[in-house]
Amino acid sequence: MDLGIKGKVALVTASSSGMGRNIALALAAEGAHVVLFARSADKLQAVCREIEERHGVPATAVAGSLTEAADITRLAGVLAGLSGPDIAVIVTGRPPNPLRDALEENELPRWDEAYQVQLRSVVQLVNGVVPAMVAKGWGRIVAVTSASAKQPMAKHALSTVFRAGVTAYMKTLANELGAHGVTVNCVAPALIDTSHRTGAAAYTPEQTARRQAMTPLGRMGTQDELSGVVAFLTSMQAGFVTGSTIAVEGGMVGSLF
Ligand SMILES: NC(=O)c1ccc[n+]([C@@H]2O[C@H](COP(=O)([O-])OP(=O)(O)OC[C@H]3O[C@@H](n4cnc5c(N)ncnc54)[C@H](OP(=O)(O)O)[C@@H]3O)[C@@H](O)[C@H]2O)c1
Repeated sequence: MDLGIKGKVALVTASSSGMGRNIALALAAEGAHVVLFARSADKLQAVCREIEERHGVPATAVAGSLTEAADITRLAGVLAGLSGPDIAVIVTGRPPNPLRDALEENELPRWDEAYQVQLRSVVQLVNGVVPAMVAKGWGRIVAVTSASAKQPMAKHALSTVFRAGVTAYMKTLANELGAHGVTVNCVAPALIDTSHRTGAAAYTPEQTARRQAMTPLGRMGTQDELSGVVAFLTSMQAGFVTGSTIAVEGGMVGSLF
């Protein structure tokens, strides 16, 4: 299926590794001109090269932090120079490590950090780059949140609280931006393969086995299974989907709706 986004300018944040990188590759495979944004300039350049080699489309790297206003202003300038963005896929950094039980989350600096990285950064990004979509009268915004915003997961209080906030913010934006031709949705993952992570962020075999047992499918989801759903929400065919959260968690959440 042709998603109809060839030539569209697609911003993907937190795209130097992991989900962001894979989503960027998926949109480039559809012919989009991807603008990558994260802090590590060298990793972004490597993803740009990979996109150009694998998909033969240009990609643009902007090194900066989602939490820095000046970096978002600079990003907006680059996007404006490309007549974009048409598409914004908003991925953020991970919550503070190590993950803890809610009662052990008693250090306010960790709450401050999670707020800055996972909610405030999203508001700042939207304010910086989305008015261009409104001016064009067409756009697709997809925020990657977490299944924990629907069914809180053990040791995920920081992620749950602020991703619930992102979900509410996206729903509000969907109501306001529909009249401007812009759709706004969330993709809520859990149990997606993180074997690319190293150090303290890498799961132990026991942690992986525990996660695999949380879904009826008995396995982790692949990065392609996540990025395919995100890519669909950026497509022409998804034009009547807005204000929704699509779960990509292998059936982990037990509720009917
Ligand atoms: N795996 C799952 O099942 C799952 C489920 C729910 C939610 N999530 C969430 O999905 C997101 C992506 O996960 P992942 O596995 O892809 O993580 P990852 O591989 O660690 O990648 C995180 C990305 O965020 C970027 N980043 C971090 N802080 C940033 C900042 N201030 N400004 C710009 N970019 C920043 C990093 O790049 P730089 O270091 O270069 O800046 C990196 O590219 C995370 O928020 C994670 O919590 C994952």
